[in-house]
Amino acid sequence: MLHIDSAPSTPGKVKMEKSSYFFTRGGGARWHYSLAKLTVWSFAFLALILIFFLRSPAPSTITSAADPSRRSLRNYNWGGSAWEKRVRASARARSSNGLTVLVTGAAGFVGTHVSSALKRRGDGVLGIDNFNDYYDPSLKRARQALLERTGVFIVEGDINDEALLRKLFEVVPFTHVMHLAAQAGVRYAMENPGSYVHSNIAGFVNLLEVCKSVNPQPAIVWASSSSVYGLNTKVPFSEKDRTDQPASLYAATKKAGEEIAHTYNHIYGLSLTGLRFFTVYGPWGRPDMAYFFFTKDILKGKQIAIFEAANHGTVARDFTYIDDIVKGCLGALDTAEKSTGSGGKKRGPAQLRVFNLGNTSPVPVSELVSILERLLKVKAKRNIMKLPRNGDVQYTHANISYAQRELGYKPTTDLQSGLKKFVRWYLNYYSDGKKAVE
Ligand SMILES: NC(=O)c1ccc[n+]([C@@H]2O[C@H](COP(=O)([O-])OP(=O)(O)OC[C@H]3O[C@@H](n4cnc5c(N)ncnc54)[C@H](O)[C@@H]3O)[C@@H](O)[C@H]2O)c1
Repeated sequence: MLHIDSAPSTPGKVKMEKSSYFFTRGGGARWHYSLAKLTVWSFAFLALILIFFLRSPAPSTITSAADPSRRSLRNYNWGGSAWEKRVRASARARSSNGLTVLVTGAAGFVGTHVSSALKRRGDGVLGIDNFNDYYDPSLKRARQALLERTGVFIVEGDINDEALLRKLFEVVPFTHVMHLAAQAGVRYAMENPGSYVHSNIAGFVNLLEVCKSVNPQPAIVWASSSSVYGLNTKVPFSEKDRTDQPASLYAATKKAGEEIAHTYNHIYGLSLTGLRFFTVYGPWGRPDMAYFFFTKDILKGKQIAIFEAANHGTVARDFTYIDDIVKGCLGALDTAEKSTGSGGKKRGPAQLRVFNLGNTSPVPVSELVSILERLLKVKAKRNIMKLPRNGDVQYTHANISYAQRELGYKPTTDLQSGLKKFVRWYLNYYSDGKKAVE
């Protein structure tokens, strides 16, 4: 600190002193003396600059997410004629009336299942995913390999990359976007809030900006979440219930997404359908979700934390099997009307919808553990704990009558049968520490 205080504060000051020595009675020794002094001052000044840069704090994740000029997008390799050829081939529908769908978050749990179902029935599908390391990226790579075998190419990139999205629409006139890319997880929001702003808000807006300006505009189906019901206690949750009391930042970003969707529908005529998924589970699932890490920990003989609410209240979830969710997504895509805008301008009213996609039969988490114990043939070491206030809610239960009516949505898999399929996949995938692709 001492030499910071004694050093000149601006380069101008050094210059001023230097010139005053030049223009006073100059003797040779005096001139040498002033040159030496100037050199010392210059070094001190440079040292000061160095210290300043070394000590300045790195921008926080929130700042960098909020400020586009500072937001760091990893450098992904895309472009070139071979790349465009792959993009076109993947997005080509088998028949002329097939959909051409851009699936964001395609290497994710739901994205992989939806992409593969669309491809199987003959639609053209192109995926995009940034393969972030929120959970083990090797699982995302294994899903990518699975999709590649069915003819789905996943472009590696971020939905915040406007140039990349524009390029994709230039190469393929997508009729639909299935937007599943997001920062998921309720508790992680306290650890890394910036990642939720980056993907769920900035990324969504970037995607909508591109979609509104292309011709023809695609219809967009996107994943909201049951978490928007937050502290709502009226059950079962209906789309008409209040959603203005989110219990986590994750929920707040999903709710923000619903409002943002309203805006782009209202101003630009984009056709937008939001799907509020209720705790999706199944093969190729997400390792950060309870059914997944309970399985891992039970097999390892590790204690698992089972939460209960105040006064020994039951914590329960409306667990929904992945195949049912996929049917709901396809139903939403098939019933989505065309967007009405062109040239970035609205030409008429466009469709705006929000649906619950749940199972309508909540199961206590302790019952989930009992089913896993039976399937794994291992007794769990249960540690009953109070539900912490970090974003989780006590109870979720979907009213699905609207989706039933409009999308023909009808879940058919109960928790016991769905977990059986999950456990079979899990044991196969992680057998002998090897990742066998089913
Ligand atoms: N699984 C559930 O129970 C559940 C419940 C409610 C809502 N949702 C929503 O459904 C969607 C899919 O969820 P999931 O369970 O498949 O999650 P997931 O994390 O497995 O999939 C999301 C994918 O998006 C990718 N991604 C994230 N940010 C991105 C970005 N900026 N650019 C490009 N790719 C990005 C990730 O790498 C990941 O592969 C998400 O929007 C999620 O919020 C899921």
